[in-house]
Amino acid sequence: MAAPAPHPLSHVFHPRHVDDYVATMRLGVDHLADTLRRLHGPATGTAPERAAAPVTAVDLDRPLHDPELALAEMSRLYLDDAVWFHDPSYAAHLNCPVVIPALLAEVFVSAVNSSLDTFDQSVGGTFVERHLVDWTCGRIGYGSGSDGIFTSGGTQSNLQGLLLARDRALATADPSRLRIFASADGHFSVQKAARVLGLGDAAVLTVPVDGDRRMDAGALGKALADCVSDDLVPMAVVATAGTTDFGAIDPLRTVAALSELYGAWFHVDAAYGGGLLASTTRRHLLGGIEQADSVTVDFHKTWFQPVSASALLVKDGAHLGHVTWHADYLNPEDPDGTGHPNQVDKSLQTTRRFDALKLWLTLRIMGPDRIGGYVDTVVDLAREVAVRLDAEPAIEVAAAPQLSTVVFRYRPDGLSEDEADRLAPLIRTALYESGAAMVAATKVSGRCWLKLTLLNPMATVEQVLGICGRVVAVGDELALERAVA
Ligand SMILES: Cc1ncc(COP(=O)(O)O)c(C=O)c1O
Repeated sequence: MAAPAPHPLSHVFHPRHVDDYVATMRLGVDHLADTLRRLHGPATGTAPERAAAPVTAVDLDRPLHDPELALAEMSRLYLDDAVWFHDPSYAAHLNCPVVIPALLAEVFVSAVNSSLDTFDQSVGGTFVERHLVDWTCGRIGYGSGSDGIFTSGGTQSNLQGLLLARDRALATADPSRLRIFASADGHFSVQKAARVLGLGDAAVLTVPVDGDRRMDAGALGKALADCVSDDLVPMAVVATAGTTDFGAIDPLRTVAALSELYGAWFHVDAAYGGGLLASTTRRHLLGGIEQADSVTVDFHKTWFQPVSASALLVKDGAHLGHVTWHADYLNPEDPDGTGHPNQVDKSLQTTRRFDALKLWLTLRIMGPDRIGGYVDTVVDLAREVAVRLDAEPAIEVAAAPQLSTVVFRYRPDGLSEDEADRLAPLIRTALYESGAAMVAATKVSGRCWLKLTLLNPMATVEQVLGICGRVVAVGDELALERAVA
């Protein structure tokens, strides 16, 4: 006899279904725990074609009607070949292992499903987010009048910072004359923002970096002077506090002074380096950030939060008015100030997740010093790894690490630069395919290099050196194959 069809409403999150909710969540947590216990290595090295075929074969019109079967299928299609950022042999992109208090918060974020656009959809949530924004502004060193908003990530935070800059500049200049300055090592979200803001690719002028890969302040001064003498308008200068490849922190105080001199909005992209705000020993590396008009901080990088969690903070909260729009159906105008505090008035998004709760429970359970301690740990880790790699004859390190990345390549004595260049991407691919370790690749002065991005405070120096040992072993093998061929 066929099983009775489930009641059509039985899947709705509702007090009447609380037993079902608890049972289903337990199933999920147990399934994840079993998966974690079975894991070995950061990945399985699956190729796109192999990952795609079983997923696209699923007939979404034929449900399984059984959470256990659905979880088993999910494992086959996704979890079994997932990339695990907590694994000490994962050292590729800017992904962090996440802290457990934030995962606890996720249960509430998605089940209660508050939307942070208006007070009447979130109540206390509005003030949790506001309190965290104020706290982060305090850590930056902003005074009263500062404000901010949680966003989906550094890309959106940078976009909003530059939108505020553009709208301030538009009061006196035509958009075609606006220019944005960022270091040559700045993040590509600056260029994307210029496109989205209708300023075009030509609006972003890249400033060369100095020997430490920080924005060359002399070159910035000259570029700003040239901009003005060409009758163009320096709309914004973006300093990066932690570049994606080298972790370089641009000279914030000098950039602040130059921005002020030329009337440019000063934005600091601290998506990566923002975790230093919690460090009790390295906060000084961000000296000058308090002079920025706006700052991007990604909690889902160096604050060990699950994706998504980022914020844009502004020195003068009044600028957030550039994104305010009143709709009668949601956030009507409130001339006498007696209405509700609505976060949508400061945000590019309308419906918005309560991501702030993750950081809240993290701070309330662990405290900021623990987060700062993790940041210090990964910075120390990168330093020690770079020192040890410097002594390794088959490896060349591009520069001393400034945050938690190490840019390096396989280049034993006698291997030409061209050959090292060709081997780097092959080594990276071979490592991924082995499933045993993952590193990233990048280019430095047109040459291919490998990169360790270290955001795992539980990884040890020896474990990370183990990844590099694999790089050398794979490099030796590939170099030999190529010599024989
Ligand atoms: C310096 C910097 N800025 C911005 C971003 C973009 O952040 P997100 O990926 O959260 O959009 C990144 C991402 O790695 C970054 O490294």
